Amino acid sequence: MTVPHREAGVRLSTANLTELEIRAERVGLNLADGHARQPLTPGQEKIVDRLPELFHTARRAVVPDLDREAQVTYLSVLGQHTALTEAKILSCYSSSVAMEIFARALFAAGLRRVGLIHPTFDNIPDILRGVGLGLRAVPEHVLHRADTAVLPDLDALFITTPNNPTGGVLDEPALAQWAAWCAAHNVVLALDTSFRAFDPRAQYDHYRVLADSGVEWVVIEDTGKVFPSLDLKVGFLAYATGGRLPLWRIYTDILLGVSPMILCLVTALAREGAGGGFAALHQTIARHRAGLHAALPQPTYGRWPDPGNRISVERLALPPGLDAGRVSDDLRARDVHVLPCGNFHWADRAEGAGHLRIALSRPEKDLHAGAEVIRDYLAAASAG
Ligand SMILES: Cc1ncc(COP(=O)(O)O)c(C=O)c1O
Repeated sequence: MTVPHREAGVRLSTANLTELEIRAERVGLNLADGHARQPLTPGQEKIVDRLPELFHTARRAVVPDLDREAQVTYLSVLGQHTALTEAKILSCYSSSVAMEIFARALFAAGLRRVGLIHPTFDNIPDILRGVGLGLRAVPEHVLHRADTAVLPDLDALFITTPNNPTGGVLDEPALAQWAAWCAAHNVVLALDTSFRAFDPRAQYDHYRVLADSGVEWVVIEDTGKVFPSLDLKVGFLAYATGGRLPLWRIYTDILLGVSPMILCLVTALAREGAGGGFAALHQTIARHRAGLHAALPQPTYGRWPDPGNRISVERLALPPGLDAGRVSDDLRARDVHVLPCGNFHWADRAEGAGHLRIALSRPEKDLHAGAEVIRDYLAAASAG
């Protein structure tokens, strides 16, 4: 089968990250995308066994009630209590759809200058640029240190927390400082918290901090990185009403809502998460991370540059002299798919040229098999 959207002869490492992820879904060991593909827990298996029942419940119920239940259950399990009173929440097919709506709303409001965390997943800058917004890179460490003095003039500031690919989390004091700075400068503060379920440090009540500050804010949440539900998922677009962005109008230009069946599934999975599923997920990801580190000990096979990372992907800093685009092409030829990190550094691809990103949300045996191929490759590369 042909790969969509790539012209013949284009080197794969120049593709965007999603194109590489699509290729990884076809053949070989897919350690590329950050979607949840780990095995179901016993509790999740029971929910999947109940899918026909959920379907019939969804058919009978009032959809806005199911929508609210999914939002309340998911967000309260993750500590976001203030969202339930202070936010209007729009359920979307995915976080990328929420992102597209947010980007279009910024453009429609004439807010065109966006400061964006650097590095981050490339579909965020691609969507923002795609609607005609101008981007300024804001290094992740500037955001984490809340170094407000160095920012240029902006209309919006966008922060991914926990960040993909580094796992870096914006702590509560830093969020409060950015919220105060944005409020003082009439800047919209937007967060992508798609990975927050993996890291308890990202589960303080962000909405309380935002609401208390008086800033105009938007938060994009996502169940898709968390539950291994074959991409039956929801992205939530949350915001306080009364701001400048026509989010509701643009949302209704694009969709009516998410399938009530998916809303029922998200509610059931979030309840199971609260009852031990999230704790099990944290253990699984920690075990997979430790196994990967053990298979590729530093400094022989490079370095693990993100010691605090708890999300479901991990960066490997390759040994000096190796180019991640080349290495990931060579690994693909050996049927192992990982991502070269150049595109995460959307303002300066060279900054990511020495890093690979490896997904941990996979069956453990796949991760072990992939790590062995990577180890053999790196051993041969350093010998030759
Ligand atoms: C931080 C972040 N936000 C949003 C997305 C987009 O997710 P989706 O394609 O499920 O909409 C991704 C994808 O990996 C991501 O890493």
